[in-house]
This record gives sequence, structure tokens and C-alpha cells, in this order.
Amino acid sequence: MKPKVLITRKILAEALDYLKEHVDYEICTADRNPTKQEIIEKIADKEGLLCLLTDTIDKEVIDSARSLKIIANCAVGYDNIDIKEAKKRGILVTNTPGVLTETTADLTWALIFAVARRIPEADRFTREKKFRGWELDLFLGKEITGKCLGIIGMGRIGKAVALRAQSFRMKIIYSDPQRLAPEEEKKYKATFVPLDELLSSADIITIHATLTPESLHLISREKIQLIQKDAILINVARGPIVDEKSLAEALERNQIWGAGLDVYEREPDVEDKLLSLENVVLLPHIGSASYETRLKMAMMAARNLIQGLRGEHPDNLVPW
Ligand code: DGY
Repeated sequence: MKPKVLITRKILAEALDYLKEHVDYEICTADRNPTKQEIIEKIADKEGLLCLLTDTIDKEVIDSARSLKIIANCAVGYDNIDIKEAKKRGILVTNTPGVLTETTADLTWALIFAVARRIPEADRFTREKKFRGWELDLFLGKEITGKCLGIIGMGRIGKAVALRAQSFRMKIIYSDPQRLAPEEEKKYKATFVPLDELLSSADIITIHATLTPESLHLISREKIQLIQKDAILINVARGPIVDEKSLAEALERNQIWGAGLDVYEREPDVEDKLLSLENVVLLPHIGSASYETRLKMAMMAARNLIQGLRGEHPDNLVPW
């Protein structure tokens, strides 16, 4: 008999076909993310769970799963899962690292340019037939080349962002709880600085940290005060790293020049004030959303799941 698995949301067809060969799956079919209660109701008899970063897999969910062996998260971040609780019960947890690094770094740069060169605003202007001819001061933005880039969180994605910055001859500074080895600092042409120094000296600040109790509101109201008036803040990591309300207020007062957000504190809700501001570009958490990458993520999660169900050591086990 094939092991029973719950898939919390429709994933790409290729990954479903692969899973069909190995497991007997049930999918939450509603055209929205399932509620915690819905997951609880369906998980009781399942041995495997393939879930998304939008699913809260906390103690209550874990307690209701009587036969669960593995939780395969289809994301590199796994802050949606109570790892300690899973560990207590001997349930394996896996993620999808590596495959989305380049795609997310690309989107970071797309956001940097969108904000710096005011692309969405200029697009709206053109569609509204407001373009009456070339003007010297039409949609003046910010230069990127030669500026100072501050990277918060110098993991895989932060490093990929740094490599791209070298083409723009940028000065690169970074802040991370763990300093890179000297050879790596040389490779990424990145200088380690304390967070406050990064915030007060970078022209573009980009967040690539993981969400942990320590990084929750790392960019607090006080830290936002340190950012230069002419600077741009980008967040493609996790929303709760930034105090979103304080950021919106700072943008409204033009205390910061602009921001680009792909993630939010209370997804899918977005701080109301942000929605009416022109100096922020808002995306719906699409950092890794290329077809190729999302397929790799889904296949990786599916393989991790099957390895765990077979009693093998999954390729991408997260540290307990
Ligand atoms: C992740 O994988 O954690 C991203 O946020 C979505 O790709």
C-alpha cells in the first residue's frame, strides 16, 4: 500500500505526476490557502505532508497528526513550521535550498531598478496617456552604478545579489550574525560592517536574512530612523523582519526615498498606507517565481518527501 500524503495546495503537474507513482495523496483543492483547521482535519491519518510557506504547521497541527513521518516544505524558508515540536515527535522537516538562489537574486535586482528608476509609476503614467513628449526632468530616479549596496544577511541569496552588484561597480557592505571567511569577503568584494553602520551609510539596503526570533523586527522604527533620506530599502526575505507600519510612515514622510517589497508582515495583508504611496513598489511574494525554479522547488520537495517516507535520509533535511 502506498503511504498517505497531504498536499496543502495544487503544485505543478510534473511534480504531482511524480508523486502519484509513489504515494496516495490528498490535495486541498480550494482556490486559496487552506486554513489551519482544514489541515488539522485532513492530516490525522497521513504519513507525509507537502506544504507551502503559507501553511502554519505549529504544535496544534503536529499534535493532530498521528502517523506523520515527514514535513516537506516547498520553500527554502521554514519559519512556518515549529521545528522544535516536530523534533520532539521525531518528524523530519525538509526545505528547498539552492534552487531558487539565482531567481530570487534576479528579482531583487528587478525591484531595485523598479524603485530607483520609478518604473511602475512611469508605466502607469504612460498607460494613462499622460506622456506628452520627452522632458528633461520626467521621472527622475536614482543612479545605481557606483553607489553603496548594503546587504543584510549574507547567505546564498545575499551573495548572489553581491555578485550581480559587481557589474554596477558598487561598493558592497554587509551585515550578518556570522562574518564571512576572508577569501569569501574577497570573492564578493564585500566589507563586513555592524548593522547600524550599514543602515546609515548604504544607498540601497537589501534584506536577505532568515526570519528567526532574533531577526523579528530587526528593522525596527529606531533602525529605520538611521536610514539615509536618499536611500532605498528592499525586502525579499520575510515581512516580519521589517516593522511594516513604521516603514510605511517613513515612506509617507519621505524620510526614505523609496522601498521595494516582495514580502509583508501579515501576508497576504499589506499595510494599508503602503497601497497609496508612489515611492514603494509592491509585489506578491514572487521572488522565486520563474517556471523553471518553481518546478525545481516542487520536485525537490516531492523527492525529499519520498525519501523521508522510505526511511532514507532526505537530501534537504533542516537542522533540528
Ligand atoms: C522561500 O522559498 O522561502 C521563498 O520565500 C519563496 O520562494
